[in-house]
Amino acid sequence: MITLGIETSCDETAVGIIDENRILANVVSSQIIHSKFGGVVPELAARNHIKVIVPLLKVALETAQIKLENVELFSVTYGPGLIGALLVGLSFTKSLAIALEKPFIGINHLEGHIYALHIQQQMHYPYLVLLVSGGHTEVILVKDEFDYKTIGKTVDDACGEAFDKVAKLMKLPYPGGPYIEKAAKKGRIGTVKFPVPKPGAYNFSYAGLKTAVLYYVRDNPGYDRGDVAAGFQEAAIEHLIQVVDRALTATGTERLGIVGGVSANKRLRERFTQLAEKRKVKLHIPQFQHCTDNGVMIALAGAARFKKFGPSELSLDALARQRLDKISVGQPCC
Ligand code: KG4
Ligand code: ZN
Repeated sequence: MITLGIETSCDETAVGIIDENRILANVVSSQIIHSKFGGVVPELAARNHIKVIVPLLKVALETAQIKLENVELFSVTYGPGLIGALLVGLSFTKSLAIALEKPFIGINHLEGHIYALHIQQQMHYPYLVLLVSGGHTEVILVKDEFDYKTIGKTVDDACGEAFDKVAKLMKLPYPGGPYIEKAAKKGRIGTVKFPVPKPGAYNFSYAGLKTAVLYYVRDNPGYDRGDVAAGFQEAAIEHLIQVVDRALTATGTERLGIVGGVSANKRLRERFTQLAEKRKVKLHIPQFQHCTDNGVMIALAGAARFKKFGPSELSLDALARQRLDKISVGQPCC
């Protein structure tokens, strides 16, 4: 089934086209306009989705070498995310489905990220997944297909958000994650140390760590950016490792997936590879291009949901917030 997936929940406009498990196109346009503001400006995000969505769709169709009429299912992110941004993708995708008389399905963005794991391989259930992005930091037990249990989540900032904020206070561009990673490579691990957050149980917390970096930078004007980046990155990743280690014990799962933008971080991948070896669990991390927001993951999740539950209603609304485990099992997502 040829499925077209559209993603506009934040600052990436993305179109992916798949035919079953084969990727025909994966095009992403990242909005650099937010860089000068040091964070995403919601209205600018929505306006930029409007500008690029049509040309991006054309590029995706050309890359896939198909015509729009060949698409058999239209899938789109309907939440969680920035409402104005979501509405662009949602309305656009509905219009395509109506005009071409093809089915339409709405997908939860977090479920989309989880489906990035399914791009390369068949995933066996149950598995534990760590979702680390700019808006979310959660550890989720995927008990079965579409059956999720949130084990823990951040009590304040998301991990990616902390990377972005720390980058901003060290005058690095937005989004900060890749720049922190690059700076950390030049730094010496252990030269500057930050405390690993300990919010307890399976929860995460990044606000304190970010503030610790803020104070360090303020009190040490001659600080070495590489050393600070390395110190922050080590503490941020160690926190993820400690929580996931506990969650693996609590759930007894033998498979671990890591998804979301921060999973593109090479040091994170290295540390989790070590954890997986120690815990004797099988580790799954998507390829780099599927870690950050993309349309392929939305297409894949859409195709899987459609096969099981059928299409969404065309009255489906965008949702700024939606917990993954609140999508009821056995029901269409909306
Ligand atoms: O999944 P994503 O593209 O969008 C959301 O759903 O939020 O994640 C974006 C986040 C940003 O905070 C960005 O700084 C972070 O992922 N990120 C990274 C890296 N690449 C992207 N963080 C650390 N290291 C990276 N290499
Ligand atoms: Zn995302």
